[in-house]
Amino acid sequence: MKEVNYAVIGLSGMGLAHITGITTDPRARLAAVCDIDASRRDEAAALQKGVRAYGDYRDVLTSRDVDAVVIVVPDQLHREIAVAALAAGKHVLCEKPMALTLEDLRAMIGASRASDRKFMVGQICRFTPGFLAAKKLIEEGAIGELFYVESEYAHDYANILKPGSWRLDPLRHGFLGGGCHAVDLLRWIAGDPEEVSAFANRKMLADCPTDDCMIAIMKFPDDVIGKVFVSTGCKRNYTMRSAFYGSKGTIITDNTSPNMQAFRVDSTCGYTVPMLYPISISNHNTIGEIRTFTDCIVNDTPVPTDAFEGAKTVCASLAAIRASHSGTVEKIDYSVLEP
Ligand SMILES: NC(=O)c1ccc[n+]([C@@H]2O[C@H](COP(=O)([O-])OP(=O)(O)OC[C@H]3O[C@@H](n4cnc5c(N)ncnc54)[C@H](O)[C@@H]3O)[C@@H](O)[C@H]2O)c1
Repeated sequence: MKEVNYAVIGLSGMGLAHITGITTDPRARLAAVCDIDASRRDEAAALQKGVRAYGDYRDVLTSRDVDAVVIVVPDQLHREIAVAALAAGKHVLCEKPMALTLEDLRAMIGASRASDRKFMVGQICRFTPGFLAAKKLIEEGAIGELFYVESEYAHDYANILKPGSWRLDPLRHGFLGGGCHAVDLLRWIAGDPEEVSAFANRKMLADCPTDDCMIAIMKFPDDVIGKVFVSTGCKRNYTMRSAFYGSKGTIITDNTSPNMQAFRVDSTCGYTVPMLYPISISNHNTIGEIRTFTDCIVNDTPVPTDAFEGAKTVCASLAAIRASHSGTVEKIDYSVLEP
């Protein structure tokens, strides 16, 4: 396959960001758009000539000139559409979190196993310039051996949680819905956490059925420890401040600042020297994400965040939420990945 014909299902701001990714990728073509909201789908279809608009995702799946679908609908619908799309022979890029329950993860992993099509979960932080730079430096050994990692998801949902919003579903806990970005980032850098303890409160979002502030302390492989902080009621600009501490240095970065801060022990003088790296701000880099997905389809190579990767992030997030309720240390159960 030389060119990938895409359909985007769900056309909010994030759906439109995926369309930008597709229309700027020379090996991708926007073939169709789909939304239950007629005005959204008509506006999206008008962005380019020859784009078909559908109101029912099942019509997208029977369309023969669609090779791949991007699923950007409420989290509760990911399973239904992803499983149907894989069964219809489409490649699938599914927004994060992959699903809200272990049962849905199981169904999606099963569908992905049974299919020869690509299934990727859109863990966008793996395409964020500051986090890519941090990952590269850490892999090159620039800060030595990791001993502590942390990340936060600070995002004020006060104006997002409108009455009737799908985000008010108790299954859509902020630590899973938004916090999965920070959990996935730490998993990407430090490996799969083994156990977790957590504290949470609900002091900011009165109408939210779940806690709006939570900290989770995690134990990673090789005796690395870490922390994820999530607040969906905080009064500040959206950011994901993150820090990675190693034996030879420290990296402090986020997805909303133009600089990455690093400290390294200078081998000539023995002092710890601060450095500032310029970083491009692109906290929703759908251009990089779509290009990677297109690449994997065109070259038939593995996707970076397959069903197992997406599911592990959900397993760790769900275990943290459980720990915040139980008040005890929870083992993170990855058995959902087993056949
Ligand atoms: N990667 C990120 O940083 C990021 C950012 C925002 C949202 N998301 C994810 O993207 C997804 C969508 O979130 P959102 O904020 O855009 O939600 P939203 O509610 O703003 O938009 C969802 C869109 O899906 C449409 N829709 C609903 N049911 C549909 C159906 N059955 N068929 C077709 N269209 C349907 C709605 O009409 C709406 O246009 C969620 O999974 C969310 O978690 C990811």
